[in-house]
Amino acid sequence: MKLLHPNLFICAGLFLTLCLLGLVQAERDYYEVLDLPKDTSARAIKKAYYKLSKKYHPDKNKDDATAQEKFIELGRAYEVLGDEEKRRIYDLEGLEGLKRSEGGGGGHSDPFDLFSQFFGGGGGRQHPEDRRGPSIHLDLDVSLEELYNGKEMDADISKWVICPKCRGTGAESDAHIHTCEKCQGSGVAIVRQMIAPGMYTQMQTTCDKCGGKGKTVESDCPVCSGHKVIRANSQITVVIEKGMVHEEKIVFERKGDSGADFAPGDLVFSLNLVRHATFTRDGNDLSMDMNITLLQALTGFSKSFTHLDGRSVLLERSEVTPSGFIQILQGEGMPHHEYPSEKGDMHVRYSVIYPKSIPEDKHEVLKEILAQEGEETE
Ligand SMILES: *[C@@H]1O[C@H](CO)[C@@H](O)[C@H](O)[C@H]1NC(C)=O
Ligand SMILES: [Zn+2]
Ligand SMILES: [Zn+2]
Repeated sequence: MKLLHPNLFICAGLFLTLCLLGLVQAERDYYEVLDLPKDTSARAIKKAYYKLSKKYHPDKNKDDATAQEKFIELGRAYEVLGDEEKRRIYDLEGLEGLKRSEGGGGGHSDPFDLFSQFFGGGGGRQHPEDRRGPSIHLDLDVSLEELYNGKEMDADISKWVICPKCRGTGAESDAHIHTCEKCQGSGVAIVRQMIAPGMYTQMQTTCDKCGGKGKTVESDCPVCSGHKVIRANSQITVVIEKGMVHEEKIVFERKGDSGADFAPGDLVFSLNLVRHATFTRDGNDLSMDMNITLLQALTGFSKSFTHLDGRSVLLERSEVTPSGFIQILQGEGMPHHEYPSEKGDMHVRYSVIYPKSIPEDKHEVLKEILAQEGEETE
């Protein structure tokens, strides 16, 4: 049980009254409520609700019953017109269609919930009862450079969208949509079945003429040929954040395939790290192999390599470096995803490349230099 809003009682009362009134008096057209034309944009609907719901909020209109009615009316209008799917049904089949799709129970939301969701009170709108379309899953190849530096990638996604011409009705125009004659728009048909000689029973089935929709389409939409959806390309910008990992998923909610009978599924990118020629990643650490000559191994060296952001990083040693030695460069690994300013370490693994041969006349010199205590043979 959530906290009751102080004005909820007044409004619940009003709400009930309105519902009762609704039995005899038709609800006002939702577009009229928001003072908008029918072909308005989703953006304009949002804006209108934003403006009007603030103006008529009961907190600001304590003793004004008309304003409070208006607030409830606005909530109901926005609940429908602010939802792509519900708006489509409302445009097409009106209130009756909505009631059918809401299962007759009247899915009215609390106008205060709507208001606070709109103004960022709740955790966004939940549609637990939604029928969702399938998600689109795509692999996205990324280089280690891109995971190190971050990147924005523009992707061109081909997907199913609701036909813009008929807005998903499949009909050439709204005038070509008719109430099904067979079921008079109810979507159900009564079938008489003989269960025994001379004994009949009546059964309700889905109307076969309209498929239970209660509507028939006289002439198909020329753009989608009555399929209600078309294939279209849509641009999407995928932001690769610094420190993201192989197989990380980037989810775009409701950007998957759309359909006339379901809410769009998600669009999900799965990152696929392409092998890097020089560096290997292990968590936030990086490792690389580095070859040095025998002379460098013995006398020290100063070498550099090019890092993933193009910087030149210096490797310096003055001691003897045995083959297999690992030098750790702190902070030269991958950025942490949550704190990109923090970085892992770089592990440089040295291999000593030996000379193919040493001329015989140089052996004495080498022996003189290298033959030390305990290392003398013979
Ligand atoms: C090191 O030398 C070996 C043998 O010559 C070679 O195969 C390898 O690619 C070299 N590695 C690097 C990182 O240069
Ligand atoms: Zn029918
Ligand atoms: Zn169409």
